[in-house]
Amino acid sequence: MLAEKIKEVAELLKERPRLAVLTGAGVSAESGVPTFRGPDGLWRQFRAEDLATPEAFARDPKLVWEWYDWRRQKIQSVAPNPAHMILARWEKYFPVFTLITQNVDGLHRQAGSTKILELHGNIWMVRCTQEGKIMENRQVPLTPIPPLCPNCGALLRPHVVWFGEALDPNILEAAFEACRRSEVMMVIGTSAVVQPAASLPLVAQQRGAKLIEINLEPTPLSPYADYVLYGKAGEILPLIDEFLFKKENTE
Ligand code: OAD
Repeated sequence: MLAEKIKEVAELLKERPRLAVLTGAGVSAESGVPTFRGPDGLWRQFRAEDLATPEAFARDPKLVWEWYDWRRQKIQSVAPNPAHMILARWEKYFPVFTLITQNVDGLHRQAGSTKILELHGNIWMVRCTQEGKIMENRQVPLTPIPPLCPNCGALLRPHVVWFGEALDPNILEAAFEACRRSEVMMVIGTSAVVQPAASLPLVAQQRGAKLIEINLEPTPLSPYADYVLYGKAGEILPLIDEFLFKKENTE
């Protein structure tokens, strides 16, 4: 049953349609990065309002930075998995391909993807709270905590989107545009509950795109998907990829 669906999805992709891909924490789970809402998810251990809101940062920047420092240490010690690697390869295979991610871990880039719309920012970037300047910072562990701007000495904050904050309008518009013009949209490893990311696939589908979901379990998006492939992203994507290239080579 799954094999049949994988074959159908591969047939669809073989036509090299305009492809948009939305990823979430599930795509990095097999690398060892904790998800947010799974059994060991971050939001089961921590309260988002204590750590991932502008109010939390205003109240206790040290606590917030200690949490991000811990996450940076975790992420630094892991590597991209086959799902990241295949998506990086597909960037070259599909003439029109847009990778949209909610992840801040930078693993897509590490796998070789170059064109990525990071909706929620990047944990390896910091932003000056005074001047708004965005800088790369890969120091692990961070010292001091909280880190200060090398230019003006003001507090730095993680360049990520917190609850209650708006997404970068340019990145968001580029993501909507890619979805509007896509012929196939794949949604991989996201619980599809956080807006506005969760509405991107619906926009694609309203414009006629076929919707493919890869997840361990059903999500609010599943009833709308043309294909739901249940399983691990790091296992399902290689199966699709294998079929895609095997077919191509034998023709
Ligand atoms: P969640 O933790 O909400 O959801 C992860 C999804 O991945 C779940 O639906 C799992 O079933 C699925 N999953 C887990 N392992 C998988 C695997 N190996 N293969 C395929 N699927 C798997 O993470 P997101 O949906 O990414 O926002 O969360 C969205 C946003 O909520 C995050 O970007 C973050 C969080 O609060 C901000 O920090 C702004």
